[in-house]
Amino acid sequence: MTPTKPAHVVVQGVKGVRLKQFERVVADILPCIQPSYVLLPAKPANGDLDVKSWPFHTLPAAARVWGTLEGQLAQKERATRKEAQIRSMIRCVLALLPTTKTTQRDKKEENSASYTIVDFGGGSGHLAIPLALLLPSCRIVVVDLGQHSLELMHQKAELCQIEGNDSTRLPLSDDSIDGMRRCRAIPNLFSFHGPVESFNQPFDMALALHLCGEATDVALRKCVQAQAIVFAPCCVGKLNRERKNPYVWQATGANDPSIKYPQSNQFCQFLNEESDWNELAKAADYSNIAECRSSRNAARRTAKALLETDRRLFMEETFGFRTALTRMEPWEATPKNDIILGWRDSCSFKQTARDSECEADIQLTIDHLLIPLSEGNSSSKPHRLMNCVDWTSDEEEAIREQIQVYVDSKEHTFVFPVRLPRRIRKLVHYVADQMGLEHWSEGKGRADKTVSVGRKGCRKQLPSTPSTHPTRLETT
Ligand SMILES: C[S@@+](CC[C@H](N)C(=O)[O-])C[C@H]1O[C@@H](n2cnc3c(N)ncnc32)[C@H](O)[C@@H]1O
Repeated sequence: MTPTKPAHVVVQGVKGVRLKQFERVVADILPCIQPSYVLLPAKPANGDLDVKSWPFHTLPAAARVWGTLEGQLAQKERATRKEAQIRSMIRCVLALLPTTKTTQRDKKEENSASYTIVDFGGGSGHLAIPLALLLPSCRIVVVDLGQHSLELMHQKAELCQIEGNDSTRLPLSDDSIDGMRRCRAIPNLFSFHGPVESFNQPFDMALALHLCGEATDVALRKCVQAQAIVFAPCCVGKLNRERKNPYVWQATGANDPSIKYPQSNQFCQFLNEESDWNELAKAADYSNIAECRSSRNAARRTAKALLETDRRLFMEETFGFRTALTRMEPWEATPKNDIILGWRDSCSFKQTARDSECEADIQLTIDHLLIPLSEGNSSSKPHRLMNCVDWTSDEEEAIREQIQVYVDSKEHTFVFPVRLPRRIRKLVHYVADQMGLEHWSEGKGRADKTVSVGRKGCRKQLPSTPSTHPTRLETT
């Protein structure tokens, strides 16, 4: 996605409300990278559109999430939400299934199952069992650390065989292939016990429904050869260098050293302070279902959308996928309802239209955090300079005037107050440079960072102290 330049100026929250740190980060990024959503792919035309429980109504009862078996979600409300998540994932999988065989392995094995779909962190098979039943000619492999969860999947599969008609399935041969254990009852369903990191078999499509935190990013890096991906991440609050990611840590004894946030080059241009990323990740990790749609939570949803946009852009930049972001139906299926879609040309996927409801939701954040230009001086035009940092003529003039006051004074240096948006700090550097002055930043985190200007050679003479004079741009 090319960074966009909406006609907004980050100044303050509406009505002068002081912004939280994560809101400032969101407000800083939105003028440069705005998340966009496409509609969740439709159910297949031959799906029974009137039946709310699609596709479960065609499957054995044991393939459902709810049930009496240990490991099934006996609690009806939670099970209903999980089924909505699975329905949304399956809609994406069916839409993205490649229509032609293009992978090297498929060319060699024309007579075998047509595609291998891996469900990373697939647990007890909530998603994999229905998929294996719906796509009998595809191999479905569940990769999970949890031996107990995988055992439950095998038990559930046994129940499905008793109830279901298995005449169309693959012939049963070996129980164990390349470290994967085949389900005897659903022969196109396999389990692989181990961390995502250790799975090295080829596959065509990768899925991950709520694969925790950094494990999602480890799995994304496994998709170099894949034709398509459908990822609905969770635990984004753990995407943070300061925290041990519980699952990746459990699997490997360390966070993955190769993963740094943000991951995409586009984000790195606009977000390079670790504390900013950590705040964004923390804010995006809300878990209250009631906040899935509330307008007061719009900025957190946008923070989540930004995190997933970073992943989406990373997959485009690094592995050449075409990508889109979509959202589960209904949103209340889970607060972790964003789905990253990735595909290659071999998938005859027709990208769906933009999702106006999701985009209106982001607009709520924009309205809250950004003040439209039209509310200020309409002759003020944003500039695009220094890595797409935008500011208006008014903002530039205001900074120039303040620096001029300093130049006309006898002060040695002028220190702008802390907590200026990064965009404005860059503007100070830009203007000071144009005026032939020295300019520098001090302090590490956003809360401490100051930008100072001074006459040539002044830096050696005086230590900087934060100015008590507010700038006109710092209104909070
Ligand atoms: C929140 S559960 C989701 C389970 C399933 N996808 C679902 O939606 O019902 C996360 C699963 O990911 C697995 N997991 C987390 N990190 C993993 C890793 N690094 N390698 C393999 N599995 C992992 C956990 O064992 C757990 O079963």
